[in-house]
Amino acid sequence: MNILILGGGGREHALAWAILQNPKCDRLIVAPGNAGIAEIAECATLDIEDGGAVATFAEENAVDFVVIGPEAPLANGVADRLKAAGMLCFGPSEEAARLESSKAFTKAVCDACGAPTAAYAHFTEAGAAKDYVRGKGAPIVVKADGLAAGKGVIVAETVDAAEAAIDEMFGGSFGGAGAEVVIEEFMAGEEASFFVLCDGETVLFLGTAQDHKRIGEGDTGPNTGGMGAYSPAPVMTDAVCARVLTEIVKPTVAEMARRGTPYRGVLYAGLMIEGGAPRLVEYNVRFGDPEAQVLMMRLGGQVLDLLLACAEGRLSEARVNWADDHAMTVVMAAKGYPGAYEKGAVIGGLDALPEDSAHMVFHAGTAERDGKVVAAGGRVLNVTARGASLDDAQGRAYGMIERIDWADAVYRRDIGWRAL
Ligand code: AMP
Ligand code: GLY
Repeated sequence: MNILILGGGGREHALAWAILQNPKCDRLIVAPGNAGIAEIAECATLDIEDGGAVATFAEENAVDFVVIGPEAPLANGVADRLKAAGMLCFGPSEEAARLESSKAFTKAVCDACGAPTAAYAHFTEAGAAKDYVRGKGAPIVVKADGLAAGKGVIVAETVDAAEAAIDEMFGGSFGGAGAEVVIEEFMAGEEASFFVLCDGETVLFLGTAQDHKRIGEGDTGPNTGGMGAYSPAPVMTDAVCARVLTEIVKPTVAEMARRGTPYRGVLYAGLMIEGGAPRLVEYNVRFGDPEAQVLMMRLGGQVLDLLLACAEGRLSEARVNWADDHAMTVVMAAKGYPGAYEKGAVIGGLDALPEDSAHMVFHAGTAERDGKVVAAGGRVLNVTARGASLDDAQGRAYGMIERIDWADAVYRRDIGWRAL
């Protein structure tokens, strides 16, 4: 079959790599793709947030299945548009994607279905928000309501810091995403990511991962899109996973169906685990980036069968075959990230690295210039490895990094420290 993946980051490189291992895939196009994806698939220029343009492109190229990687096209209704054109597509509708695009919506769904999450209040002006913060005290969490590329959340250690964050959000520093603000109770504990596929009815557990959101070693410094990840997450024992399914994910999926907006796609629950009890931090309506890289490394070609079963409403027949293995990915970022970062650094040594089921360098923000790979984004490479233990996977990933010729790369040397 002919498959189109929308997106151009490390997540989409990993999806493309896994899907290509499945013999059902005859032709793979990725839009827009990147320099690493271009080595394994066709790349196309396309406005992926324009559902009409995507549908026309898919028709012209006899595409049988569209896999939507990032959240922006989902929040823009691209899945709805493709479905209306009679196309098979992996990814939730615009209405269902509100589980990521509106924090206030997610909180209301949690209230309706009893899913445990932080206590919160929702504000449309700064004065009332500040009164609430003064009443509650710190630490407290201030969030822009809409999509803000992972940057619209401030964990304030003091009331002053919370008030400054409120001013900043209502002052427009997050654009439209900050027109409404959610203020939440601070949850202590260990964070983990939990992934399921959903076809509107059936929920199929896909796996767990943990990522490192902070730029600095020891999980310090500003938040980023994610500096590394590993799978499985040791904190997600069978007992915790069972509680996440029965207390959080299944009630949410049932509530979405009850509202007439069934959830179809991958549902990524960001969790806080304290004393074995899970609470929801947030939902995402797509695979995590870089969590997808470690999940794809472990799942391989079966991913295509699972995504198809999900899109076709056949998840009740589907099974995930897990090996008893571990994967780790280390993000190499450009100098300056997560602030203003340098572009154009030439990266050498990639051709000499092993590329097999245990070693892959997924490209996140790269471009090709005069036959060379150059840095073209904040997060640039995802150096990913698999092993019989997390230790093995870590050794392989850092062994590859040592052989990459890029002096100014920014990366953490401690990915996996909590688990090791
Ligand atoms: P979010 O975009 O909602 O995932 O938030 C980004 C990060 O902020 C999360 O991964 C957590 O590390 C942190 N965070 C968000 N909400 C809370 C909360 N209520 N309590 C503690 N930490 C939080
Ligand atoms: N790694 C966090 C995310 O994809 O949202």
